[in-house]
Parts: sequence; C-alpha cells; structure tokens
Amino acid sequence: MRLTKKVMALAMASCMAMSLAGCGGGGSAETTAAPAETTTAAAAEAETTAADAAAEAETTAADAAAAVEGKDPSEIKVGISIYQFADNFMTLYREELQKYLVEECGLKAENISIMDGKNDQGEQMNQIRNFITQGYDVMIINLVQASSEPTVTEECNAAGIPVVYINREPEAEREEAWVTEGIKATYVGADARQSGTYQGEEIVELENKGDADGDGVVRYIMVQGDPENVDAQYRTEKSIEALTAAGVEVEELVKMRGDWDQTKGQEITANALSQHGAKIDVVFCNNDAMALGALQAIEAANRKVNEDIYLVGVDALVEVVEHVMNGKMTGTVFNDYFGQAHTAADKALDFVNGKEVDNVYMVDYVKVTPENAAEILELIK
Ligand code: GAL
Repeated sequence: MRLTKKVMALAMASCMAMSLAGCGGGGSAETTAAPAETTTAAAAEAETTAADAAAEAETTAADAAAAVEGKDPSEIKVGISIYQFADNFMTLYREELQKYLVEECGLKAENISIMDGKNDQGEQMNQIRNFITQGYDVMIINLVQASSEPTVTEECNAAGIPVVYINREPEAEREEAWVTEGIKATYVGADARQSGTYQGEEIVELENKGDADGDGVVRYIMVQGDPENVDAQYRTEKSIEALTAAGVEVEELVKMRGDWDQTKGQEITANALSQHGAKIDVVFCNNDAMALGALQAIEAANRKVNEDIYLVGVDALVEVVEHVMNGKMTGTVFNDYFGQAHTAADKALDFVNGKEVDNVYMVDYVKVTPENAAEILELIK
C-alpha cells in the first residue's frame, strides 16, 4: 500500500509513463482503454442502439479479462541474473524487482531465482544455462557484457524461453533483429543520453554556469563508469555537450574509469585534486556511488562543494539526495528503478501469457536539485 502511494506520487511528480495499476498495469490500462473506445464509437453511430453498444462493450471486456488472466502467477518461474550484487544501484533495483513480483504480481518467492553474475560473463552464462535446463518460463537478465547478448538470446530462443534484458542495453541492430526474426526478447532501461544532458544542465543552470573560479573556462574531471557500457559513454558525452550547447567554454583535465565504484571514485578525484588543485571547477561522476567517493576526496582536500567546486552524479541514492538537500552535492539524476523494475516484471509476465511485447521500453530520468530533493527523498526512502 505504502509503495503504491509512493509510486503514484512519483509518477505524478515526474509525469512518467510507468505502471500505476500494480502488476500488469500497462496491460490492463490498454485493455480498459479498448472498451472505452468501442463505447465512444458506438455512441457516435446514431444507428447503433444503446443495447448493441453495451453488449459489444461487455464482450470486449470479457475477452480482455480472459487475455489478462493467462497462466496462474503462482506457477510462473522467473530466472534473474544481475551483473554484480555489489553494485549499489542494482541492489535497489533487484530488491524492488523481487518485491514487485511477489507482492504485486502474485509469484511465489521460491519460484524466483536471483543470481549474482559476480561481474563475470562466464559465470552468468552458466546461470542462464541452468535456468534453461531447469525449465524456467522467462528470464530477466542484467548482462555482465552487453556484447554477449547474441549468444544469450540464441540459447534462450532455441529453448523457447523469452528474455527481458535490463540496465545494460544491447546493440540497436540487435534490438531490431528481435523484431524481424520474431524473437521473444526485449530491453527495459532508461536513455542514458537524457541522464547526461540533465547532469550538464544542472551545472549550466547555476548562476556562474559552473565556473567556480570565474576565469571564463569550466575545467572539469570526468569519473566514468565501465566505459564498455553505453550508460558511461552517453553520460560522459552528453553532460559536456549540454555545457557547450549553452555556449560554455570547457576544458577536460582528467577522464578515468571508476567502474561505478565508490572507492575508485574517491581515488580518481583525490589524485586529480592533488594534480590540478584549484583549477578544477566541476567533478562529473557517471553515477552516485563514485560521486560519494569524490565527495570524500573533495572534503579531505578542504574544498567546499557549491562554493569553490561543483559535484554531480546519477542514480539518486538516498545519501546523495540528502547531500543535495544540505548543499554537500550540487545535484544528481533519479534513475527510476521502480519504473524499470515494474516494467521489466510486467513484460516478463506478458511474454509468459502470450501477449504482444515491444522490443524496447525506456523509463524517464528525473533531475534532482535542491528545489525538488525533499520530494524525491520522500519517494525513495
Ligand atoms: C547504471 C547506474 C550505475 C550502475 C550501472 C550498472 O545505470 O547508474 O550506478 O548501476 O547502471 O550497469
């Protein structure tokens, strides 16, 4: 109940097109829309009697209800593999996914198997093959390497098991191939370009546009996630593009991979601060875990965020949103794991129930600044 309220508030706050009606919400919203259209059309046709229209609407509703029912949820077996349990953001995602499948979709906890890919593609491949051998109905996979998608899809498809990929997006051509080849696979994620643009805009929207030392150039360091991952690539590119598009002159002082990891974020920022010192105006981090590490380094170097340096991340971890509220961080971007987990679960069950599933679903990001941080905190806490 508490969750449903939160999710509704969240959707209202950000106008996100996410599932509001519990499990399969997207599906039932579509099916309620259909009879309504039928009724409107019937009313418009002056010749059609009210009785005919009502009868027609009833039949449509009955058909829709039958289609929604599908397989008994308590019998559905879902195999899930997360690229790495140690990842902060994917931990929130995984917990929400499990909770939603059990509490909203009616699956039995023992029919949901969630494996730790341990950042090892070989290990994850074994887990997927075990799911196939054990006859799971559907898989939800957060690939260790997006480039392994063709092998995973081929093996699952051969076994007749649909796959919902999450978080690490496969190649666009592959997503097209699923459609043309009639393969039961889909991707549920968020457009990383948007998160990068939002980060850049948070800096551009500052009174001095991020030029902390007022010398006319915004000098920055970029702490990257895993650069093989499109999230890291686009956030790196689009954050800076937002600055240059606004006419801000920029200079990159350091760009290093921190693999989404707090300790690495701290080390990279500490080294950059000792090398470039006061020249650094902005620290861009591809995610919040690394931004928390960067904050430790910034504080250790006696610099003050929002006074002589700016710091932005992505994800909206609780601790980071609190820092945005109390001024210790400039901003972050909410990576909506509620919307993503719910859509992934809904689509997995749609596959099992033989419903139509598109090849890509994107959930919107939301900017988090001091203006709305309290509101976002309310939703995620
Ligand atoms: C990103 C997220 C990161 C990390 C990564 C893993 O979307 O912002 O914190 O979890 O996914 O692929």
